[in-house]
Amino acid sequence: MHRRPDARAIADRRVWNHGRVADGGPKRILRGAGRRLVIKAAPHLGLTAYDPTWDFPVDLDRLAEFSSSNIPVQDSRATTVEDGGVRDLTITVDGLANVIGDRFKGARVLEVGPKYGIHSLWLDEHLGPSEIVFSDFASDRHLHDQWEGKLRSPHRFVYGDLRAAEGLAELEPFDLTMFLGVLYHSVYHLPLLSMLNRVTRFGGTMLLETTYDHRPDASVRLRWPEKNLKAKAVPTVSALRLMLAWTGWRRVTRYADYRPGSSELLLECEKTDEIAGEASDFTELVAPQRPPVDLLERS
Ligand SMILES: C[S@@+](CC[C@H](N)C(=O)[O-])C[C@H]1O[C@@H](n2cnc3c(N)ncnc32)[C@H](O)[C@@H]1O
Repeated sequence: MHRRPDARAIADRRVWNHGRVADGGPKRILRGAGRRLVIKAAPHLGLTAYDPTWDFPVDLDRLAEFSSSNIPVQDSRATTVEDGGVRDLTITVDGLANVIGDRFKGARVLEVGPKYGIHSLWLDEHLGPSEIVFSDFASDRHLHDQWEGKLRSPHRFVYGDLRAAEGLAELEPFDLTMFLGVLYHSVYHLPLLSMLNRVTRFGGTMLLETTYDHRPDASVRLRWPEKNLKAKAVPTVSALRLMLAWTGWRRVTRYADYRPGSSELLLECEKTDEIAGEASDFTELVAPQRPPVDLLERS
């Protein structure tokens, strides 16, 4: 089933063009008055109401596919914390089995941020990858040491920030890239998605799980939690769709049954385009900010 979560909002945008009624009718006039009233009243109630900015969806829908899969995903947990708070895990291994099924047997697999190795051991056992490569910070090595010995498939760790993990790009490209519970921990969404594009084969798959912001427009909520002072960034679905399209992931399926009602989403993304050159984070579909300078012409 194809479902466009923003369709209603897009329809609203067509009708309510900056508060003006583009296409009359008493119901619409009434709704317009209601909207204006809510926006005016919100600050008095300690709330913020605003007209979302819709300056992207037409092109985005034309250029990128976004569909929804209704396959059952056995994960409806309210929280990701397991083992009475000892470990936390994004998707359960049962949920992962639902999504991956019998695909990717013997594939080349990359997993970013394996942490406790729960997904890693499942991938190792059920897919029998030709190689499984782990990308993580070296400071988590002590966690990896606890489960590495259980792996049966050929594997290696490439330590360092994924954004700069050039060692990954030197390897054979991956068929399946696991990017679970990592994106919103970083403010560098575009460099991370772009790096994952570079290391995945054309037509390859990325499974992406992240916390998202429920607002409908393309915004990223920046966070600086008091408890750890880490810089975090939570994208809306529209923002994520845009960033995926810009970085060469233009065929995206959302698993609708994954933890419905939560702020977590699970996307399967296909690599549809290559990144344009070493110095860019974007594909050629994104116009450069400046036209390339012809050095010869200048001399
Ligand atoms: C919340 S844990 C997610 C663990 C596991 N993937 C899951 O799905 O439950 C985030 C992991 O991503 C890793 N990570 C975060 N930013 C990273 C980066 N820029 N490069 C490499 N690893 C990163 C962290 O070290 C950590 O292991």
